[in-house]
Amino acid sequence: SEIFEPKRIIVTGGAGFIGSNFVHWVVDNQPDVHVVVLDALTYAGNLDNLAGIPEERMTFVHGDICDEALLEEIVPGVDAIVHFAAESHNDNSIADPEPFVRTNVHGTFRLLEAARKHDVRFHHISTDEVYGDLALDDPARFTEETPTAEQPVQLHQASSDMLVRAWFRTYGVRVTISNCSNNYGPRQHIEKFIPRQITNVLTGIRPKLYGDGLNVRDWIHTEDHSSAVWAILTKGRLGETYLIGADGEKNNIDVLHAILEGMGKSADDFDWVKDRPGHDRRYAIDPELRSELGWEPKRTDFAEGLKATIAWYRDNPGWWQGAKEAVEAKYAKQGQ
Ligand code: NAD
Ligand code: TYD
Repeated sequence: SEIFEPKRIIVTGGAGFIGSNFVHWVVDNQPDVHVVVLDALTYAGNLDNLAGIPEERMTFVHGDICDEALLEEIVPGVDAIVHFAAESHNDNSIADPEPFVRTNVHGTFRLLEAARKHDVRFHHISTDEVYGDLALDDPARFTEETPTAEQPVQLHQASSDMLVRAWFRTYGVRVTISNCSNNYGPRQHIEKFIPRQITNVLTGIRPKLYGDGLNVRDWIHTEDHSSAVWAILTKGRLGETYLIGADGEKNNIDVLHAILEGMGKSADDFDWVKDRPGHDRRYAIDPELRSELGWEPKRTDFAEGLKATIAWYRDNPGWWQGAKEAVEAKYAKQGQ
């Protein structure tokens, strides 16, 4: 099939964790592409994530994806929208779901309307969490046929996926969707599992493990997520949903042990804390993407990727120190 060669793309949420890693990946690997970042700079967005990118490669627009008038200014003339902007943290969605519905559902709707009006290709970033969870001993992994989540926390993401499919089928908007497993790497907000524990150790706080620690996540390095998104954007079939994963299933205790070991701490140097309500047991991706698009993950050595991630947080204390106290205070209030 034909290769799509965008020259100017909007990246929503490009100042967040995965979005900023994608912007860096595009700037480093696609010399002919200009990136327009649209980001509201919520608590999760950080302009420092885009530091060092030359002006001629990127334009930063500070704004909200729900702002119709702003979209009217920036969408005409771009070839594609790659949509990462979202409320993304599970624990926050339990405490306060409203921003999730607003950004993930209404925001996605606004972007789809702009893509429809101006005939712009649309790639939607989603998560494997929309497929619910699996039992620890389930021989199956997720495919795009797996029934979707039943928990409210995942429904905002699942709803946005359904909007995207409807805009493809009903209005013929040129869309693709990708649902990726858990990402790790530099610039991830310290409320998330891996960076929270790394920065705990760096600040002399004991790491915190939820429940029995046996929950499984399927880890992928964020650089591999970026290259997969590019493969789908340029070579994917319109209307298709692609699952992205790198065979990285690990339980939380094993990940925490690897962090402790990598930071010179003993294996029992952490606290068990209260479990997350409705805590999903296991996520695991069956990545059929590889055969179809010829994509292969490169950073599959988890120990090596974790070492580099630890080094990044150690070398960039200014990036996270300002947020640490408030994040821990919030968790402490939840008994976590
Ligand atoms: P993040 O929370 O780090 O970043 C989200 C970004 O979106 C921030 O920069 C924020 O300022 C911006 N944003 C939020 N609301 C906005 C709005 N209304 N208008 C404009 N910008 C807004 O999230 P992330 O971890 O980078 O995740 C991005 C996407 O990737 C999400 O859809 C998430 O579900 C998905 N995903 C994440 C993972 C993971 O492991 N983190 C895995 C698979 C998929
Ligand atoms: P998280 O990074 O919030 O991602 P997910 O969206 O997959 O839940 O959490 C990853 C796993 O780590 C999840 O099983 C919850 C667990 N966890 C802890 O054990 N301790 C923590 O402090 C956090 C934030 C998460």
